[in-house]
Amino acid sequence: DAPIDGETTDLLVVGSGIAGCAAALAGARAGANVTLATEASRPADATSYWAQGGIAVTRDDPEALKRDVIDASDGTADPAAVDVLVSGADAAVQDVLIDTLGVAFDEGYGREAAHDEARIRHVDAATGRHVLVPFLEHLRGLSAVEILEDTAALELCTHEGRVHGALLERDGEVTPWFAGATVLATGGIGACYPRSTNPRTATGDGIAMAALAGADVADMEYVQFHPTAFAGQGTDERATGNETAGSGPTPDRGTFLLSEAIRGEGAVLRDATGERFMPEYHPDAELAPRDVVARAVATERERTGEVVLDVTPIDFAGEFPALASECADRGVSLEDGIPVAPAEHFLCGGIDVDLEGRTSLDRLYAVGECARTGVHGANRLASTSLLEGLVWGLRAGETAADTGVEAGPKPIEPPELLDRDPALPDRFAAEKFHRLRRVMDAELGIVRDPAGIERAQATIRRLKGEVDAYTRTRTSRALYELRGACVSALLITRAAAANEESRGCHQLTEGAPVDAD
Ligand code: SIN
Repeated sequence: DAPIDGETTDLLVVGSGIAGCAAALAGARAGANVTLATEASRPADATSYWAQGGIAVTRDDPEALKRDVIDASDGTADPAAVDVLVSGADAAVQDVLIDTLGVAFDEGYGREAAHDEARIRHVDAATGRHVLVPFLEHLRGLSAVEILEDTAALELCTHEGRVHGALLERDGEVTPWFAGATVLATGGIGACYPRSTNPRTATGDGIAMAALAGADVADMEYVQFHPTAFAGQGTDERATGNETAGSGPTPDRGTFLLSEAIRGEGAVLRDATGERFMPEYHPDAELAPRDVVARAVATERERTGEVVLDVTPIDFAGEFPALASECADRGVSLEDGIPVAPAEHFLCGGIDVDLEGRTSLDRLYAVGECARTGVHGANRLASTSLLEGLVWGLRAGETAADTGVEAGPKPIEPPELLDRDPALPDRFAAEKFHRLRRVMDAELGIVRDPAGIERAQATIRRLKGEVDAYTRTRTSRALYELRGACVSALLITRAAAANEESRGCHQLTEGAPVDAD
């Protein structure tokens, strides 16, 4: 094949949440020219923007935070990775968030489930946006950083087992961006589920690109469900396509997160009869690990028809004004309690990386939710996702900046764009997304039946076959998003089928089979 030309950069970062921003910052500080490509056209398109609770720090007791991370994971977190997290936490928050970005954290510390003490730095219950907006502003001011918005990475450029950048698509044009090193920071897989707290961009695209290029992935079965996502009217399913339904301020106009910090303040969960039920499930009641609370909420919804978050014990409107106004917009009476149900929230597994964010492929790094560092094991502790993204983003960005771009164009072929009319592929993608979400919801939810996992695997394999056939003749961003979601879903079902042990977010039951198709 004839070599092809493309753009060249020292460090290509894909994704604009906290992990991608941290990698770009560290790369620039280390002297690299950085290109940050993001599908997002606004900060709110990144999952980090929606983080409510905050970011955990050690309060001078790293061992205590380490203990809580490992306990919440049911003993499955990797102690070496947790050491990196806790030893880097306070310095990263101080240096980047406070000194560099000027984030004005609220006085005092918040408490969240499975934390032994109050140690969460936060800004209202909207920490993510108060971090991400200044972070992007700061990067825009750095001459070493170029930000390409509304730009999707479609494939990694690989040659002889080495990653040399990615094919980037913007306005239907595909351009190879060659890089000394590539950092994937593409977030999670919320688009694979009908109810998720993630924005629509969370399609598992980075995980799929890496896996298709041969990178190792791990712990994909550990999909974390948040116990308290809004479950009022009209929240059963997100929009049919991979679209944000409506123009509301939440990732999915259907649902929105009710932060664990609300329970940390003293709100309680009640079933449809008004009974408080969590003390029967766990000695820490509403502050039990997230997987325990999510299963209890699902069980009590099924048993009694509804679960509400009773916020009357706390000053909800005073402490959580944005959430109170969102509830008011939905016509919720706080006296009656806020209807809640679990929703997909975070993928604990992902692209397998080491302590510097290196994947199993040469010159490819992964950070943030798309990466599996080992910190979360089978279940993530609250308010450690922004922290993990920040700490690993900085480490990977600094390490990757050293790589140096190889001279000369690479023999890599961009995909042929046979049909760029987006209307047909987008309709196809919307329909298939709907089918994918139904099967993932039915069979790969909070509790899983081995026979159901097998059925899901067969259905998703067929679905991926249809998508592959379609992408041989046509292309569009929506098709690539669908492919990413199908590949990620297949990796989840495969890992779930191979793991016979119920642990953390992977719980097996012999429940009645559900018709998925
Ligand atoms: C929350 O605010 O409940 C979410 C925090 C997290 O996911 O870490």
